[in-house]
Amino acid sequence: MMYNFDQIINRKGTNSYKWDFGYNKNQKNMLPLWVADMDFEAPKEVIEAIKARAQHGVYGYTFRPKSYYESIISWFKEYHDTEVREEWIVPIPGVVPGISFAIQAYTNPGDKIVIQPPVYRPFYEVINELGRRIVKNPLIEDNGNYKMDFENLEKIIDKRTKMLILCSPHNPVGRVWKKEELERLGEICLKNDVIIVSDEIHADIVYKPNKHHILYTVSNKLINNVIVLTAPNKTFNIAGLQTGNAIIPNKNLRSKFEAVITSQHLYMTNIFGIIATEAAYKYGKKWLEELLIYLKQNAEFVKDFLEKNSNVKTNIPEGTFLMWLDFRNYDFEVHKKLLNNGLWLNEGREFGEEGAGFERMNIATSRKIIKQALNIILKTLK
Ligand SMILES: Cc1ncc(COP(=O)(O)O)c(C=O)c1O
Repeated sequence: MMYNFDQIINRKGTNSYKWDFGYNKNQKNMLPLWVADMDFEAPKEVIEAIKARAQHGVYGYTFRPKSYYESIISWFKEYHDTEVREEWIVPIPGVVPGISFAIQAYTNPGDKIVIQPPVYRPFYEVINELGRRIVKNPLIEDNGNYKMDFENLEKIIDKRTKMLILCSPHNPVGRVWKKEELERLGEICLKNDVIIVSDEIHADIVYKPNKHHILYTVSNKLINNVIVLTAPNKTFNIAGLQTGNAIIPNKNLRSKFEAVITSQHLYMTNIFGIIATEAAYKYGKKWLEELLIYLKQNAEFVKDFLEKNSNVKTNIPEGTFLMWLDFRNYDFEVHKKLLNNGLWLNEGREFGEEGAGFERMNIATSRKIIKQALNIILKTLK
């Protein structure tokens, strides 16, 4: 291994949401395995590129060069075996802002939007804040395995249902949707004129033999009905640089999306976001391959430990650096107790009532911190 993911880098005092945003001011030593960023340094090529640009000293208005688009196109070609054309790419300040633009571009207040809980909290927030209505198609859970409920989906879609927001891979349950599942979802949505906004921010964090499918590749028909939202943020740990890209093959959908961005004057970007995206996509593959090995070992460690020492159930995620821990064998307020004992996970209910009894654990940290967290879990359950 070239990279040392065991190295612990102190993030305290950097205004980190994860490490400096106190849950409780009296709690001095809180281990924060909640918000989804990693405790690792970005690939060294990214750090070097940012340093080199910083050295120049002039940071005026800057556009995205052709090489920026080329870096995205070749990443998708090489890493996902997927065609992206330059004109399909619409840069965005982040994936969540991209969801907001899509909702504004393709729906009206009062329209219904489907989400599949338990799911990433901001999906609810954006829909609500824009005055659209949430329709839930909860995932079906069977002994820790999750799947989409296609029969229910067909039942709940009506004339006011205009959009479905897909989380692919799925945060928090860690599913990497299979081609057949995406095909079936696509067919139902196409038949009912429901646009799919596919949040694929976790697309690069997938463990073999699972394979991620960029949504518009699963069928020829789907390509005109889909918005794919992507970013290097999770993959290379550069979320603080606030950048991302929508991929919209359909020209008409793309124009509407761009019109929202233009109306809000959000097409400019941060220089360092451009620089880091390009460096990460051009040079980050080796780093990512090693990262995935480390994360998978973390996941195996957590699963083995909990299986041997507790009645907490969990699976190795198919994708994402998030684990979904099932505490339903315990009938007390696990979340509060964990906090009191110094471990901050995301409470399952945050992802919808379907997540009650679960906690989401971020495993993108050194093994030593993972061990500390597991010991706090044990202590809490005793
Ligand atoms: C599914 C999903 N979408 C979007 C985001 C955030 O994206 P951004 O910071 O680019 O808005 C996250 C971060 O945790 C996420 O898990």
